[in-house]
Amino acid sequence: MPVTNFLAIETSCDETAAAVFTEEPRVLANVVASQTDLHARFGGVVPEVAARAHLQRLLPVIDEALRQAGVSLDQIGCIAVHNTPGLIGALLVGVSAAKMLAIALDVPLVAVNHVHAHVYACRLAAGRDIFPCIGLVVSGGHTTLFHCHSALRFERLGGTLDDAAGEAFDKVAALLGLGFPGGPAVEREALAGDAHAVKLPRSFLHEQRLDFSFSGLKTAVLYSIAGQGNPRPAPPLAGEMRANLAASFQQAVVDVLVAKSRQALEQTGMTRLAVGGGVIANKSLRTAFEAMTRLAGVELFIPPMSMCTDNAAMAALAVEKWRVQQWAPADLDAVAVLT
Ligand code: KG4
Ligand code: ZN
Repeated sequence: MPVTNFLAIETSCDETAAAVFTEEPRVLANVVASQTDLHARFGGVVPEVAARAHLQRLLPVIDEALRQAGVSLDQIGCIAVHNTPGLIGALLVGVSAAKMLAIALDVPLVAVNHVHAHVYACRLAAGRDIFPCIGLVVSGGHTTLFHCHSALRFERLGGTLDDAAGEAFDKVAALLGLGFPGGPAVEREALAGDAHAVKLPRSFLHEQRLDFSFSGLKTAVLYSIAGQGNPRPAPPLAGEMRANLAASFQQAVVDVLVAKSRQALEQTGMTRLAVGGGVIANKSLRTAFEAMTRLAGVELFIPPMSMCTDNAAMAALAVEKWRVQQWAPADLDAVAVLT
């Protein structure tokens, strides 16, 4: 039997991505065209701009992935696509292209949940089974804890009630005048600051529930700048104050993410933790997770940077669905938010 090659597409937010992988799964190509430059001047992702850019870039990105993999279209045996969750206009571009390719090549189509795929990136990078485990996804759009019974059975344990962790980084970066995307900018600024200088809230820290809330933290940062109860933007901050706020904010996010993950591990008895999503690029967060899991005797899985931020390789979760013939219907829909 020849090995089946998969072509996967990701267009859920502001990265246009295509990947080629085998049924092993082994990644042959992972191409990402970032749109950061297009959205930076707006201070955030503009959905319509993202969808139009996907339209322009998707076919060249697919071509490049096939070229890098050394695989031609007629050697593709399955098409995979992230069809949920995300920006509806953006998702539609990828889903339409995937459906068209599956029909044209007469191969199966597999739909993949983008958030689950962020956890699967850990399995892909590890090169071995990581399930069952606790999965944490920390990205610009999601902060969700899962009890992953298997690659195909994710039980949601909790998630953010308002802002996602990455969204909080982006908003606080804007408050501090640090630009977009905020995560790396806040991390850089925090290097020069004192993480204990400003007292900031940590929601649900001492409760059993596995939910998060970051909007109060963001507001607390705003009040530290502008004064209590003052919603107006403040003048630019001086160096030390800004660095201290960045460091204190980052520490509050790190404390909450690590504490809730530890609680999830304790409550389920799991001994593996898989963390995916753009925010795990943050070094303080990585270090804190390493320390917590070492102490708790838990195995930690974090993918390399190229598989933390949005990409199509993590859609290799499709391999697991393909094995059990979980095909998507020919009229597959893009779904913005899972209900
Ligand atoms: O996974 P991702 O690329 O896209 C989504 O699916 O949302 O995550 C992007 C998010 C952004 O909010 C960005 O600010 C955040 O990840 N991020 C970081 C860092 N690098 C990226 N947050 C904190 N520290 C970082 N170093
Ligand atoms: Zn993502």
